[in-house]
Amino acid sequence: MSQHRASHPDHPHGGGHVHQSGHGHHHDTDLDWGEMAPLLERQAEITLPVYAEAAAWLGSLVPVQGVRRILDIGSGPGVVTGLLAEAFPAAESVAVDGSPELLARARDRADARGIGARVSTLHAELPEGIGALGQADLIWMGNSLHHIGDQGAALTAFADHLNPGGLIALVEGGLAPRHLPRHIGIGRPGLEARLDALSADWFAEMRADLPDSKAETDDWRALLAAAGLTPAGTRTFLVDAPAPVPPAVRELVLAHYGRLRDGLGARLDADDKETLDRLLDPADALSLHHRTDVFHLAAHTVHTARKG
Ligand SMILES: C[S@@+](CC[C@H](N)C(=O)[O-])C[C@H]1O[C@@H](n2cnc3c(N)ncnc32)[C@H](O)[C@@H]1O
Repeated sequence: MSQHRASHPDHPHGGGHVHQSGHGHHHDTDLDWGEMAPLLERQAEITLPVYAEAAAWLGSLVPVQGVRRILDIGSGPGVVTGLLAEAFPAAESVAVDGSPELLARARDRADARGIGARVSTLHAELPEGIGALGQADLIWMGNSLHHIGDQGAALTAFADHLNPGGLIALVEGGLAPRHLPRHIGIGRPGLEARLDALSADWFAEMRADLPDSKAETDDWRALLAAAGLTPAGTRTFLVDAPAPVPPAVRELVLAHYGRLRDGLGARLDADDKETLDRLLDPADALSLHHRTDVFHLAAHTVHTARKG
């Protein structure tokens, strides 16, 4: 299945495409993951050095050579699946996702990097498919648990698949990314703070609309403990790409704002909508295409817990 109710990796916002949902109605919290592939891949690549730091930290929490099988749950295009295979050289690293298009990218990416023999892909719709994932020494869930309606039940099911001494790492929370200063010379200052507030509403609706959705406090440590695991530490990693940004970062910011305009369009007030139109207009000197003040600053939090 290639269409899921979904959000952006780090920053919840609606997709530009409305799909028929499992409940038989259209909803602006549905989007097509396959179509998001280039954005997901670009974002993960820009975040790669930070994920490498996180992987090195995980290597201090488990014996590196003892990690023989890794599950990257909701792997998307497999950027982190490959990184984990490199950080844990004795392991097979498995990209698990509900999108065949994204898994095909993960496969190609691993082959291109010469680690295809230790990277495999597994198509699974979650949470139904958890039972077929097999055992692992490390389970990484990068901004994917929040796409499952009953997060606590899913964590308990994932914990069953951890070998004794194994580790689960959840990337959840952190800070919404920022890309522009408070005053950008167009519209009312504070645009990104307002977009964050709208995104939070969108995210709550996205979660409420998931099958078996359970309203729960996002106390990740408590959820991990309730799944029978022992919390092993939480750390936050900063992605800091200051202005002037390279073209790849500018493209990421443009794609991010394009999705914000499409996904939050109906929720934006007229002034902010006009500001987004100007930011995305290549003919506008103050647009994201030309601005010298664009940056990318994001904080990713990794919560860990151990079995036994
Ligand atoms: C926000 S992306 C995260 C991708 C990657 N882990 C990262 O951090 O860049 C969420 C991923 O979870 C997958 N996904 C979402 N809901 C899913 C479900 N119910 N079953 C399986 N995969 C799902 C999507 O296809 C997507 O690749």
